[in-house]
Amino acid sequence: MYSDSKMAMRASVFSRRTLRHGAIVSAVGSVRIKLLLSCCVLFTLIALASRAAWFMGWKHQNSSPLHQPSLHRKGYTILINTWKRNDLLMQSISHYSSCPGLDSIHIVWSEPDPPSVSLVDYLKNVIHSRLRHGRRIELKFDINAEDSLNNRFKELTDSKTDAVFSIDDDVIFPCSSVEFAFTIWRSAPDTMVGFVPRVHWIDQSKGNADKYIYGGWWSVWWMGTYSMVLSKAAFFHRKYLSMYTYQMPASIREYVTKNRNCEDIAMSFLVANATNSPPIWVQGKIFEIGSTGISSLGGHSERRTHCVNRFVAEYGRMPLVSTSVKAVDSRSIWF
Ligand SMILES: *[C@@H]1O[C@H](CO)[C@@H](O)[C@H](O)[C@H]1NC(C)=O
Repeated sequence: MYSDSKMAMRASVFSRRTLRHGAIVSAVGSVRIKLLLSCCVLFTLIALASRAAWFMGWKHQNSSPLHQPSLHRKGYTILINTWKRNDLLMQSISHYSSCPGLDSIHIVWSEPDPPSVSLVDYLKNVIHSRLRHGRRIELKFDINAEDSLNNRFKELTDSKTDAVFSIDDDVIFPCSSVEFAFTIWRSAPDTMVGFVPRVHWIDQSKGNADKYIYGGWWSVWWMGTYSMVLSKAAFFHRKYLSMYTYQMPASIREYVTKNRNCEDIAMSFLVANATNSPPIWVQGKIFEIGSTGISSLGGHSERRTHCVNRFVAEYGRMPLVSTSVKAVDSRSIWF
């Protein structure tokens, strides 16, 4: 009997303890729910506030100067390099033709066969209804007999815009990102402004010889520093196109043609040599629509490193300037 009552006492102590414990648990639970509810309310308020700002026309204000008519056409020309990927080309052009600042499209075509009638018809239909300052977007094919990577930087003799947005056919940027980069470019029109940064640094293992190493995306991410933006997605002044063809040493163009690589590094060198300044890396959303690129093939970074050292020898100095500055849309940073 004695032991029985002791057990009963223990049991009641135990249950009281569990009760108290349960109360604590539920108190913590209600604090959590309150916190969660406050977060929900805060998010709703933020969403409403940004909506309201949009309705009242506060947003998109920065793009309005674009639409003001002026003597010179103030938009940009898309210079797109494509090779045997009509589906990607069609996807890119349909997308970019909806961007407000786009003035004309220049397609660099280096395939042996000319563009098919169906492709041209498709693209013409896509841009048919899009008007810019009361006229249609211009569409030009630049058909090249020779298949060289230098083709993408041929002079645009008929271009009416100073700004060139150079892109590959396998990446797509939302119009908001493109227009943002265009705004940055207009505040620094001699500079290359782009979405894909790359870096170089001195090869310490080679002693005091001025040897450099080319670093890809991971290096930029790790160091937070870059010295090039690639022409697969960059704005630059069209004067650099004629400089590339007529002023840059011919040996660099020959190297690019022969090795089928590094035209983008050559362009970065050219602009850096002309400006003695770094490029500007702009924040933007990137959507890759193609799957293969040379950057995924083996030996890529060694070949790029070789290009950098080769071009340094041609220039007699290292023109690239490093920086850690990145342009970010201030309307998006508080998220
Ligand atoms: C580099 O820039 C300088 C000064 O503008 C120019 O004289 C020189 O020709 C350029 N070098 C090359 C290799 O283009």
